[in-house]
Parts: sequence; structure tokens; C-alpha cells
Amino acid sequence: MALENTSDQWGGVSKTLHWLIVILIIVMGWLGLTMVDLPNSPHKIATYALHKSIGLTIFALVIARLAWRLYAGAPAEVAGTPRWQHTLATLMHWALYALLLVTPLSGWIVNSAAGFPLQWFGMINLPALVARDHDLHERMANVHQYLFWTMVVLAVLHAGAALYHHFIQRDATLARMLPRGWLRANDQGDT
Ligand code: HEM
Ligand code: HEM
Repeated sequence: MALENTSDQWGGVSKTLHWLIVILIIVMGWLGLTMVDLPNSPHKIATYALHKSIGLTIFALVIARLAWRLYAGAPAEVAGTPRWQHTLATLMHWALYALLLVTPLSGWIVNSAAGFPLQWFGMINLPALVARDHDLHERMANVHQYLFWTMVVLAVLHAGAALYHHFIQRDATLARMLPRGWLRANDQGDT
């Protein structure tokens, strides 16, 4: 699989980062929503630590992904896509990138305002972003949760659009983000 994007396919780097981040976000949503209701115990502390470490990993992966996106660009627009759809998709993609950055950052602020130490998988100590502050902690915990649900809504719309392209418009939008051969690209002359 070519690592770089071509004019009609996402390359291996973009595909791997896209799907790895999707899987990690699903794991994080599940961990986050279940961990807050756990009774106080070492298990709860370990689950929070895991949530934070995976969240920091996502943050780093998204920075790498954005850097790669700026370096490698994107494949050409799928032929036949109306202008308004292209504009909406571009806005959606940048909104998702923004949420992918801001959601973990807000979690980092929640943790800092709570006054808890932060480590990445017990190996690297990270600094607090703000001083301990009870009110800020409460507010940012709400913001963190709100950002997560905004990402869920946008990601569902985004996935719906990808499925619409594949099944209704029958074009290559979804196929070119999946490993080659997983789906038949409907507009590549093989229908
Ligand atoms: C993309 C990455 C992330 C996602 C999708 C995510 C998602 C979530 C979700 C769904 C919750 C549960 C919210 C609730 O029901 O109250 C939560 C809670 C929390 N997250 Fe994250 N999170 C991410 C990154 C991080 C990071 C990087 C940190 C810290 C460095 C962090 C720290 C926390 C903390 C401390 C809570 C508990 C908040 C509370 O006590 O109410 N999160 N997260
Ligand atoms: C947490 C969930 C998701 C997030 C945060 C996300 C994020 C993104 C972002 C930021 C891009 C833009 C790539 C760029 O132009 O640089 C993208 C592209 C894409 N995503 Fe997702 N995505 C998610 C889930 C999904 C799912 C579930 C599907 C399929 C059902 C999907 C299908 C696609 C496709 C086909 C593209 C390429 C669009 C094109 O070539 O114009 N994504 N995604």
C-alpha cells in the first residue's frame, strides 16, 4: 500500500491514522462514560489513568495527522461531487480536526484544575496546564463532556455522508479511505 496519497486514493499513513483514531475515540467514549460512575477504588484510579493516557495518545496522533495532512495534502475531489457538498465536507473535516484537538486539551485542563498529577502510561510526567481551581474543574468537566458529544454528533453525520456517497451516489469517497479492495469503488469503471 502506498504511504502517500495519490490523486484518487488516500495513502497508507492517512488511512491508518483515520481508522486508528476512530477506534481510539470509541474506546475513550466508552471508558469516559463508564469510569465516572465507578465506586472509588484502585480500579477507578487505574481506569482514569488509562483514559488520560489514551487521550494524550490521541492528542499526539492528531497533531501527527494534521502535520501529515499539511505536508501530503488530500486526493482530488471525487468527480461529480456538487460544490455545496464539497464545501460542507471540508467544513466538517476541519470541525472534526478542531474537536479532535480541543477535546483532549479540555480533559488535560480538567485534570490540571483538579490538581491531579498527569502521566502518560506511567512513563512520562506531564505538566499542569492551569493551577488547581475547584470551579474551573467543574466547568471544564462539563465542557469536556459537551465537546465529546458534539464530536459524536458530527462524526455520525460525517459517517452518514460517507455511507450516502457509497450506497446512494455510488462513488469512490468511502472506498478510497478504506484498504484497497475492501469495497468496490463504484465510479472507477468497474460497475
Ligand atoms: C479525544 C480524547 C478524549 C475523549 C473522547 C474523552 C471523553 C471523555 C468522556 C466521554 C468523559 C465522561 C464525561 C462525563 O460523563 O462526565 C470523560 C471524562 C473525563 N476525561 Fe476525557 N476524553 C478525552 C481525553 C482526555 C484527556 C487527554 C484527559 C486528561 C489528560 C481526560 C480527562 C478526563 C477526566 C479527568 C474526566 C472525568 C471528568 C469528571 O470527573 O467529570 N480526557 N472524557
Ligand atoms: C470518530 C469518528 C471520526 C472522525 C473524528 C473522523 C474524522 C475525519 C476527518 C478529520 C477527515 C478529513 C480528512 C482530511 O481531509 O484531512 C475524515 C475523512 C473521511 N472519513 Fe472520517 N472520521 C470519523 C469516522 C468515520 C467513519 C465511521 C467513516 C465511514 C463510515 C468515515 C469515513 C471517512 C471518509 C470516507 C473520509 C474521506 C473523505 C474524502 O475523501 O473526502 N469517517 N474523517
